[in-house]
Amino acid sequence: MAKKAQVTWGGRFTEGPADLMLRFSESVSFDYRLAPFDIAGSKAHAAMLAHVGLISAAERNAIHAGLDKILREIEADRFIWDARLEDVHMNIEQALAKCTPAAAKLHTARSRNDQVATDMRLFFKHACAVLAEKLLTVQRAFLALAEREQGILIPGYTHLQRAQPVGLAHHLLAYLEMLQRDRDRLAAVAAQANFCPLGSGAIAGTTLPIDREFVAKQLGFVDARGRPQLTQNSMDAVSDRDVHLEFAAACALAGVHFSRIAEDLILWSSAEFGYVRLPDAFSTGSSLMPQKKNPDSLELLRGKAARLQGNLQALLTLVKGLPLTYNRDLQEDKPPVFDSYDQTGLCAEVLAATVAGLAVNHERCAAAVADPLLLATDLADYLVQKGVPFREAHHAVGALVRVAEHSAVRIDQLSADEVRAVHPAFGPDWADVFDLRRALARRAGPGMPGPAQLKKQFARWKKILG
Ligand code: ARG
Repeated sequence: MAKKAQVTWGGRFTEGPADLMLRFSESVSFDYRLAPFDIAGSKAHAAMLAHVGLISAAERNAIHAGLDKILREIEADRFIWDARLEDVHMNIEQALAKCTPAAAKLHTARSRNDQVATDMRLFFKHACAVLAEKLLTVQRAFLALAEREQGILIPGYTHLQRAQPVGLAHHLLAYLEMLQRDRDRLAAVAAQANFCPLGSGAIAGTTLPIDREFVAKQLGFVDARGRPQLTQNSMDAVSDRDVHLEFAAACALAGVHFSRIAEDLILWSSAEFGYVRLPDAFSTGSSLMPQKKNPDSLELLRGKAARLQGNLQALLTLVKGLPLTYNRDLQEDKPPVFDSYDQTGLCAEVLAATVAGLAVNHERCAAAVADPLLLATDLADYLVQKGVPFREAHHAVGALVRVAEHSAVRIDQLSADEVRAVHPAFGPDWADVFDLRRALARRAGPGMPGPAQLKKQFARWKKILG
């Protein structure tokens, strides 16, 4: 039975693999999802074989019809995957053999090594486009929230201590920048994937007169001007897993961004901050404490980031120290890649939905940002404008903070005499600094949180996000 199942390479063997070995070595349980890419690759390969005269047009047509039928069966979930046939490639080839005798010619001038490399590159181009689109949805959710809450100010934090006032929108637009770089990275990974390895054979190409450019064009491995892009070294082409690593790295970094964003929102939704309320649909209760509403969606986003980093680490370790070229270890390259793809996509969807359901508590934000100490730096800038060197100004304002703390009054409530006693450059207008709106308006330079810049940023993002 085992012997019969391994018709593809069983020629030199007298005995089939042990059942245990079949269970151990199969990959179809996870690489089945390459089927659409595998079939596209096989159709392009068959078209090329006919183009160069290695098979007839009738054989090509029979192969195409058979592959189309198999794809329909797979899409309808009617295809029966057989783990004894090891992987997606051999399952499809065996199914094709039942459709047409021409199936026996499909693997002409091809190895599973260049076949799987091609499938994965097609997968990466698709996966990067899908994930970029999902990240776009997250960006749009944050942009909508930022626009809705345009006038709201909050403290910005360094060291998780109140630092300086910012617009909530400015904080949210920082996320858009992070996510934009994630999208750019995915586009770069897709560009790296965009070279066709088919024709590299098992390791050293083929003696048969194939046309690699023809296949590359059929599969869309082309540059902006439609010119075919081919991998340039057959040994590299079948052993290179850089794109896997770059994809997992892009996902891991997106995961780190999700995690940092999630942590901000977890803090903001706590009773201590109270800036936002999370949507019920993405929170959970406690089985013991009736009052609890836990930010589980956000905590899971933090947790998934660890998993995405683990996938990257697994791939780095997998490839490290492998001799050229293909080694069966490389079959283990797929589960981390697929997991990173699935989880990154899910994370993006959950984050977008959580953000869409956020409610901002204006009173809590206003109370927090009313802390006059947030404008201590502005007070130093005030002295600088009166000609005081910054270090001296910094020191003077520090002394004022101490005086206020000592007499238990807010810094903006100190008397003119107390202030002038600390530094003579403080004039009668010293307390104007504490006007928050004016303080924000002064932050007018590029990249700063002032309202003029904010307007520009909204326009910019609307253009980028469409
Ligand atoms: N299932 C295999 C993998 O994913 C396909 C390539 C097999 N090549 C080989 N020489 N055994 O790595």
